[in-house]
Amino acid sequence: MLPSGMTTRVKSIETFDGPLTEAVDGDAVVMTLTDEIDISRGDMIVRPRNLPSSGTRFEAYVCWMHSEPMAVDRPYVLMHTTRQAQARVTRIDYRVDVDTLHRESVPALELNDIGRVEIATGQPLFYDSYRVNSVTGSFILIDPHTNVTVGAGMIRGDARTVDSLKPGTTVSTDVVWQGWNIPREEREARHGHRGGVVWLTGLSGAGKTTIARAVERRLFERGCRTMLLDGDNLRHGLCGDLGFSPDARAENIRRAGEVARLFFEQGSLVLCAFVSPYRKDRDRVRELLPQGRFVEILVQASPDTLKARDPKGLYARAGAGQIAQFTGMSAPYEAPAAPELTLDTDSIEIDAAVDRVIGALEALACSASEPGRAGRIQSRRWHDRSGG
Ligand code: ADX
Repeated sequence: MLPSGMTTRVKSIETFDGPLTEAVDGDAVVMTLTDEIDISRGDMIVRPRNLPSSGTRFEAYVCWMHSEPMAVDRPYVLMHTTRQAQARVTRIDYRVDVDTLHRESVPALELNDIGRVEIATGQPLFYDSYRVNSVTGSFILIDPHTNVTVGAGMIRGDARTVDSLKPGTTVSTDVVWQGWNIPREEREARHGHRGGVVWLTGLSGAGKTTIARAVERRLFERGCRTMLLDGDNLRHGLCGDLGFSPDARAENIRRAGEVARLFFEQGSLVLCAFVSPYRKDRDRVRELLPQGRFVEILVQASPDTLKARDPKGLYARAGAGQIAQFTGMSAPYEAPAAPELTLDTDSIEIDAAVDRVIGALEALACSASEPGRAGRIQSRRWHDRSGG
């Protein structure tokens, strides 16, 4: 049984008209097993000596079926057997010219194009090459915003290259995904609210940490399960080995995203405050989570405000050339194209900002109801780290 890895034997094959000794492709049957094993929709029954591949990266031929071209690194939903996963195309190898069968290098696949691509998924899938098994070797891609089927694919096989520093590629060899022990839904039912990840991105000094801390306090007072992941703090331990180059930041955000996912699967509302200047890195975290559970919030303030606040004295030091690759000065910041929320901390008060974040969570049914406003802390200032 995959993903559990348990083994058992078929005891009987039942049908409405009586038992069978064997069933073939297309039969609708009930199987009983010699052992009591938990199996649910999407699990796979396989021969122990004929296992599918398991992984988050594979190569495929895709036929593009939508007028909007296929874009590298855009999130799609991938439907495979009875499972679905967040997915993105990491590379387009070539397009096949259907008249000459020549391979052409193209930046995107357009309507009716067929091409070879590499795909990365947010969760591991069990797949075969289409040549071996057309059911476990095929998939469709869906646009997560419109629910329209945009592509159909045939899996060729495992991805050729594994670059261990690139987020989304990091699965050790010879490991089997075991599945979560207690489903998140059970935990959420016990907690009385859904899990979610609130991702605050923006320049240093914009107010990410202040908002994250105030939101977490408010949620905690409502009885929610919460966790706060903050760039400065994670860089004291888990990410203490990383600097601020684009690769190091990508790895920083990859680790933060994986940790956020763990807490999310445990049913928590996870507040994440990271500069996270690169759109690609943030989008990869989004892909780790089910649709609607990743709330991206752009926290911004004018350059003058940032320099005036400068709570850690970093703008002054960066201005004096003492900090290399400082985001907003000597390193780029790519603002989200369509964040769930934008908070301009030049003009909004902390409590109002918190209200907006909580409102966004409530809209996603991710927050417990408010027990009363007694626990609220009034009139804090931006960057007050006392936590109330
Ligand atoms: S990220 O870019 O990788 O997302 P992260 O949020 O973890 O950054 O850490 C940012 C914090 O590190 C800032 O709040 C600031 O205190 C500190 N810092 C030190 N050097 C830099 C730098 N070059 N660019 C941005 N932040 C820096």
